Amino acid sequence: MDKAAVYYFSGTGNSLIVARDIAGKINGKLIPVTSVIDNEIIKTDADMIGIIFPVYNQGIPFIIKRLVDKMDNLDQKYIFGICTCGGSPSLSLEYLGKLIEAKKGKLSAGFSVKMPYNYISPTFVLKDFLKSFTLKETSFEKQQKMFKDWERKLEMVSQFINARKEGMCETSARLIEHSIDFLNLREVLQKAVWLKVAGFEGHTELPFQESIQLMDYGFNYDDKCTGCNICSKICPVKNIKMVDGRPVWQHLCEQCFACLQWCPEEAIQFGSKTSGKKRYHHPDVKLSDMV
Ligand SMILES: Cc1cc2nc3c(=O)[nH]c(=O)nc-3n(C[C@H](O)[C@H](O)[C@H](O)COP(=O)(O)O)c2cc1C
Repeated sequence: MDKAAVYYFSGTGNSLIVARDIAGKINGKLIPVTSVIDNEIIKTDADMIGIIFPVYNQGIPFIIKRLVDKMDNLDQKYIFGICTCGGSPSLSLEYLGKLIEAKKGKLSAGFSVKMPYNYISPTFVLKDFLKSFTLKETSFEKQQKMFKDWERKLEMVSQFINARKEGMCETSARLIEHSIDFLNLREVLQKAVWLKVAGFEGHTELPFQESIQLMDYGFNYDDKCTGCNICSKICPVKNIKMVDGRPVWQHLCEQCFACLQWCPEEAIQFGSKTSGKKRYHHPDVKLSDMV
C-alpha cells in the first residue's frame, strides 16, 4: 500500500514538479487529477493525501473543487495541500480546507510555492483596458531563484508532512480577500470583467469559478498553426477538438493555458495581445510528462 496519494493538476508543469518532488520525499504515488476526475467516487487506501494545484483567480481551479467534491473516506486521513502561484496564495488553501471539511476531512497542512506566472495580466493602458491583457514574462534569473527557493522549502515541507504535523495554512491578503468575498465581488464584478476580457458576449448563470469554463472564447489560432494536434492532446480536460485540422474549443475550459503555452509554433493566442510574447513551461517538464 502506498503511504500517500499525491493528486496534482498542472497546466505548465510548476505544480507537477512540486508534486513530483514531494511525492519523492514522502513515498507517495503521483496521481494526475485528470486520470480520476471522471470517476463517480474518488477514494484511496493511502492514509495520507496530498492535493497540489495552481492558484487560479485568487482561488482554486474548478477541477480541484470537483475532485474534492467526489472524494470519499476522508475522515481518518492526514491531508495536506500545496498551491503554486505566480504572485501569492491568497485564500486558496483556506478554500481547499473548507471543501475538505464539507467532506468530513481536515486539511492539516497547506503550503504555497512561488513559481513563474503563466497567465495573462493587464498592461494598464487606459484605452481598451479589457483588451490589454497579455502574457506576463518572468526573467530567467527570477525563475532560477524561484526554483532554488522551492528546493530549500521542500526540505521543510517534507519534514513537516512526514512528521504529520498540523496547523500550517499559508495564506496572504486575508483582509482584502475576505472583504472581496463578503461583498460578493467575484460574482458581481470579477466574473463580468473576466468574461469580457475573453470576449464572451453572452450571459451565464454559472457562478464565477464555473464560468471560467467559458473563458476559452478568448483563444484563437493564427496562420502559424500546422494542425499538429498537440493542443488537443495536451488539454487536460479534452476541451479541444480538431475540426478540419484546426483547434476548436468546447467551452469546458479550466484556463490552465497548456494549449497556448505548449504550442510548438506559438500559434495559439488569447485575445489580441499575446502574439510574439514569450511562452512558458517549467524547464524540467517535457511534453511527454504532460500528455
Ligand atoms: C487561470 C489562471 C489564473 C491565475 N491566477 C493567479 C492568481 O490569482 N494568483 C497568482 O499568484 N497566480 C495566478 N496564476 C498563476 C499560476 O498560479 C502559477 O503560474 C502556477 O504556478 C501555474 O502552475 P502550473 O504550471 O502547474 O499550471 C494564474 C494562472 C492561471 C492560468
